[in-house]
Amino acid sequence: MLTARIAVIASGGGTNLQALIDARGRGELKSGQIALVIADKAGVKAIDRANAAGIACMVIPRREPEFEEKVLSALAEHNIDMVILAGFLGIFSGGFIRKFHGPVINIHPALIPSFCGKGFYGLRVHQAALDYGVKVTGATVHYASEVVDGGKIILQKAVDVLPGDTPEILQRRVMEQAEWVLLPQAAELVSAQIIREKESNI
Ligand code: GRF
Repeated sequence: MLTARIAVIASGGGTNLQALIDARGRGELKSGQIALVIADKAGVKAIDRANAAGIACMVIPRREPEFEEKVLSALAEHNIDMVILAGFLGIFSGGFIRKFHGPVINIHPALIPSFCGKGFYGLRVHQAALDYGVKVTGATVHYASEVVDGGKIILQKAVDVLPGDTPEILQRRVMEQAEWVLLPQAAELVSAQIIREKESNI
């Protein structure tokens, strides 16, 4: 079966990467396969998860010069159709988004347009939600663009904020109930679209 070749770019624990791997294993991500994992720093758990799943993995340090050029070369070498930013803490330039021929999608741990944009990442997002006193938060999968967290929204899922929540407790609930559900669903939607386009070009 024709599948879209996916590259996942991660910076840390890789739980969103693991959700994609598990969804592929359950047959829920059938139109796409994870062909490459790029970690933007060495020693992160995402690398272990890629290795355990037998997925090609490389480290391209984000802070080194030519980071974006090196990523673009790796994507080309592996014939990647689509990029998934999964717990990626960097920000790609508009130039990168334009130079890569396919879709780049990102998971954000809030309901965009709330608690997003520059400086809103990881626990800071959940701290902001708690500080504001929202009763519902959640996660968003969207197309990456040159505007941080600004691209077209693909999927969203709401999660209750409960009394006594700390940023850590809320983060975990958003990951379990929203991120790890949405990202594989979005990956399948976009992969299926890529396959339809490929088949119509045959
Ligand atoms: C999570 O807070 C996720 O929402 C954000 O990055 C953090 C770690 O994700 N995108 P992961 O475990 O590395 O996938």
